[in-house]
Amino acid sequence: MAEFPPLVFSGVQPTGNLHLGNYLGAIRKFVALQEKNDCIYCVVDLHSLTAQLVHDDLPGQIRSIAAAFIASGIDPKAHIVFNQSAVPAHAELAWIFNCVARIGWMNRMTQFKDKAGKDRENASLGLLAYPSLMAADILAYRATHVPVGDDQKQHLELARDIAMKFNLDFAERIRAHGKGVDITVGEEPVHAFFPMVEPLIDGPAPRVMSLRDGTKKMSKSDASDLSRINLMDDAETISRKIRKAKTDPDGLPSEVDGLKGRPEADNLVGIYAALADLSKADVLTQFGGQQFSVFKPALVDLAVAHLAPITDEMRRLMDDTSHIDAILRDGGERAGARADAVMKDVKDIIGFLR
Ligand code: TYM
Repeated sequence: MAEFPPLVFSGVQPTGNLHLGNYLGAIRKFVALQEKNDCIYCVVDLHSLTAQLVHDDLPGQIRSIAAAFIASGIDPKAHIVFNQSAVPAHAELAWIFNCVARIGWMNRMTQFKDKAGKDRENASLGLLAYPSLMAADILAYRATHVPVGDDQKQHLELARDIAMKFNLDFAERIRAHGKGVDITVGEEPVHAFFPMVEPLIDGPAPRVMSLRDGTKKMSKSDASDLSRINLMDDAETISRKIRKAKTDPDGLPSEVDGLKGRPEADNLVGIYAALADLSKADVLTQFGGQQFSVFKPALVDLAVAHLAPITDEMRRLMDDTSHIDAILRDGGERAGARADAVMKDVKDIIGFLR
């Protein structure tokens, strides 16, 4: 049975500060995946309008995400780094997907419910349709694997639903145009134009929590800057935030089971494990029985050693805007050529004249 050629795609929004959650949950996985895969990494500037329509410095925000990708080790020559709005196929395919997806599917998205809050009537149409654009980002390249943090899982399930509905609704046309690939979904054979994307969520830190509240996700939008470690924080700031991080009065347990019901301890051990490339069990073998007064300074040293070179390189890159812009332009051209080829087939399948 034929298979879709493996292709990795992921995106990060240019809103607010990139933080340790974005880095450990997503960007570090992007770097690891590029060794063995063809990868496309996108700064999703169209999506950022759903969070805030008018940005103070959108160009600067876009460049800072691209700089973070490159400073973390992504090779923009071997792979593709670009900004979403440079490739019109994303918005074009999103429109088609808006007609494939059902309003009920969108209404069920927990991120939409959280972000729209109580006043749903007043949320933008873009916020509701957000997952449709996300599906278009991925499927404009017929990408197969998507590294993300745990909070994007539901959006990727929806991308699969959209792909499946398109494949089934247009099955005859896909066959007639000779553009499909025979895949199996569950037990069912499907002649698919779009692949069923595989989320890549597992990893040492799929959900990094706030330093102020271990039950809340570390987030760009948290009002308290003490809740997160930003990629642009200097060593002194990282140290202060970790020292002030909420903990409980007990020392660290010797077994992972002992972290149950202790979300703040669990989170700090998880962060240490992710940064040191160890399991939580390994970290507890080393620190079990110790107080946070011992563990926190060790975590500060580790975080600073890991993040300082990335921060320095990000600053250096952001001083050279023409270099970053050239990388994004080149990436946009290469991404655009690939997406155009897919869009030609999509248009033929639907029946648009071109
Ligand atoms: P965004 O910009 O909110 O976040 C970027 C990536 O960081 C991950 N992440 C986290 N991981 C672990 N712990 C956390 N506390 C944490 N906070 C954020 C997110 O899961 C994400 O992987 N909708 C996406 C962007 C997007 C996209 C796409 C992703 C648009 N199109 C296509 C993949 C494929 C988002 O808002 O990510």
